[in-house]
Amino acid sequence: MSKNLFITGTGTDVGKTYVTGLIVKKLQESGKSAAYYKAAMSGNERRADGTLIPGDALHVKTMSGIKQSLEEMCKYVYEAAVSPHLAAKLEGNPIEMERLLKSFDHVCQKYDYVTAEGSGGIVCPLRFDEQKIQLEDFIKACNLSCLIVADAGLGTINAVVLTIEYMKNRQIPIKGIIFNHYEPGNQLHEDNRLMCEAMTGLNVVACVKDGDTELDIPLELLERLYQNAP
Ligand SMILES: Nc1ncnc2c1ncn2[C@@H]1O[C@H](COP(=O)(O)OP(=O)(O)O)[C@@H](O)[C@H]1O
Ligand SMILES: [Mg+2]
Repeated sequence: MSKNLFITGTGTDVGKTYVTGLIVKKLQESGKSAAYYKAAMSGNERRADGTLIPGDALHVKTMSGIKQSLEEMCKYVYEAAVSPHLAAKLEGNPIEMERLLKSFDHVCQKYDYVTAEGSGGIVCPLRFDEQKIQLEDFIKACNLSCLIVADAGLGTINAVVLTIEYMKNRQIPIKGIIFNHYEPGNQLHEDNRLMCEAMTGLNVVACVKDGDTELDIPLELLERLYQNAP
């Protein structure tokens, strides 16, 4: 059974997939059996045969070099670049929690380190019809702990503190923060790092610069962020 980590962020486009790619790459290169999982992926292109390409999964697979199949990485793939609950209304194929958990469990049985990426930020409806499923329902059902990806620049104190307050309020365990688009020597970025740590009591465990191809974090620290599945 795997050790798992859930990657959320302060919003869409903050760099969850990019950072996850670096994390999975580090595990893979150190000889670990590493896998990627995303419960619902929207905003995807189609192959010539009409099937959807799970874009985030492809990015992580390419960056990390893992051999896991794209199909195994994501159960629900939508074309429209909208929240999964709306994509399912537009395209059909609403999320069934049981199928989702089964597909995640399959990945957990097969690999040692499973890194799961969230859709959007921490508040993300996966299904909102007669059934209501939020992203955090998946996190809780799988007993996952989270790492939060945040932009290093202007506005991040607000985004990080709000995200963490929400998560603490809902008893969602948090392992730390990763800053993305970080510029060493940038006074704002360095102050944001100190302020986010001081205001949340959590550590910024790594900082990722633009174009980084390696994650600057000791392997032992990265491994410690992962937790056994129940
Ligand atoms: N550190 C980085 N260096 C270069 N490009 C980045 C970096 N972080 C994010 N990007 C790019 O920014 C865009 C959004 O990042 P992405 O990881 O897809 O965000 P999210 O998964 O949070 O929606 C992508 O095109 C990605 O390649
Ligand atoms: Mg992504």
